[in-house]
This record gives sequence, structure tokens and C-alpha cells, in this order.
Amino acid sequence: MTVRVVPLQGCHLEAAVELQRLAFPPPFDEELLWKAEHLLRHIALFPNGQFAAETEDGTLMGTCSNTRITEDNWSAHQNWDTTVGGPFLTTYDPNGSTLYGLDISVHPAFRRMGVGRALYRARFDLVSRETGLVRYGTACRVPGYAPHRSTLNPEAYIQEVVQGTFSDPTLTPLLKMGLTYLETIADYMEDEESGNAAAMLEWKP
Ligand SMILES: CC(C)(COP(=O)(O)OP(=O)(O)OC[C@H]1O[C@@H](n2cnc3c(N)ncnc32)[C@H](O)[C@@H]1OP(=O)(O)O)[C@@H](O)C(=O)NCCC(=O)NCCS
Repeated sequence: MTVRVVPLQGCHLEAAVELQRLAFPPPFDEELLWKAEHLLRHIALFPNGQFAAETEDGTLMGTCSNTRITEDNWSAHQNWDTTVGGPFLTTYDPNGSTLYGLDISVHPAFRRMGVGRALYRARFDLVSRETGLVRYGTACRVPGYAPHRSTLNPEAYIQEVVQGTFSDPTLTPLLKMGLTYLETIADYMEDEESGNAAAMLEWKP
């Protein structure tokens, strides 16, 4: 299958908003999903940091959103809202040293076909070629934590996933794509399945 990664544009918005619902179903809070106005703002702010993955005939298979944040912001390892400045990305800095991944969504019908990897390749390429970027960083949710809630805290669960004892539907693919685990942020965002925690990950050229 051919995966074409292109800049996210206005023509993708309707399908991109619908894709959010499919990629982050309940119990994930739908208030946290991108609306068209958010995506339009991301495109206006940082057009070459927003990606869409399409089939050859233009069907949207996946998207990913990114911002640029300062070194101090990245090093502080804070929660989602403080780090990115909410859905309109008020902490965006055009000279920021970290390309910060906000989300990645692959349509369920196109999963495990290399679409996520292609979107990650676009992220890594951007870090390698854009002046001033030293890393790609993100905080990854761990939706596979929920069934382990009674026996493990989120950090212990994440350690087991990193070591390969458990497979997590989100953290495991991101580790396979070449990201390195740094640490667990306990109260990253409202995310019942992940116990509100996230795994900080980075990639450097
Ligand atoms: C996580 C997600 C982006 C992966 O996308 P994808 O297109 O299916 O991933 P790929 O096909 O490129 O797979 C990349 C690697 O991860 C592996 N992988 C993919 N899904 C996996 C899963 N559920 N469990 C274990 N491994 C998985 C693939 O086998 C592949 O490994 P390989 O190259 O060693 O064979 C996708 O499942 C998704 O959109 N999930 C819902 C939204 C989400 O949680 N986003 C991330 C948080 S913001």
C-alpha cells in the first residue's frame, strides 16, 4: 500500500476531526479532541509541522499534530496543558528546540500497515532538516494500563512495557518506531485508561 504524507490542509479538516473520534473513543474525554478551529490554528501557526497520511486516491488514513517548544519547557516535564498551552498551542515558539508531538491518529481500518511509521518518519525528517530543532519529544498515553490498575501503578506498568513484558496498544508501537523512554509523568492529562499518566519519549538525530 502506498502511504503519501502531505501537509495537513483545510481540505482534510472534516475527515481529520472525524478521525479523532475513531482514534480516541470513550472513555477518552471528547472535549480534549481537536475541533476544526484548533487544527486551523495549528496550520496557521506551524504549517510544516502538521501532517496527513493519504492513500493514492486522497483518502485520509492518519494525521499527526506538532508544536515547537523551548528547551526549558521540554526539560520541565510538565502536564499537557502547561507544556503545549492548550488546544491553541499558546506556548508555540518558532525557535523552540523540541518538535513536540501532540497526537497521532491512524484510522482503525488502516492500522498496522505502516501509516503510523510513515507519519513518524515525517516528524523525524523535520527534526533532521529544520534549523534549531534538536529532538522530537512527546508524552505518550498508555491505554493498556486500565486492566493492571489493581496491581501496578502507571509507572510500574510503563516499565514493564518498556522491558517488553506487556504490550501496550500505543506505547509499544512508538517504542518500535525508534523513540526512547525517559520517564513517567504521573498527572499528565485527564485520561482514565492511562491512569492520567504518560511516558515521556524522545528521538534525536
Ligand atoms: C498507535 C498508532 C498510531 C499506530 O499506528 P499504525 O499505523 O497502526 O502503526 P504501524 O503500522 O506504523 O506500526 C509500527 C510498528 O508498531 C507495531 N504496532 C502497531 N500497532 C501495535 C499494537 N497495537 N500493539 C503492538 N504493536 C503494534 C507494528 O507491528 C509495527 O512494528 P514493526 O515495524 O516492528 O512490525 C495507532 O494504533 C493509533 O492511531 N492509535 C490510536 C490513537 C493513539 O493512541 N495515538 C497515540 C497517542 S497520541
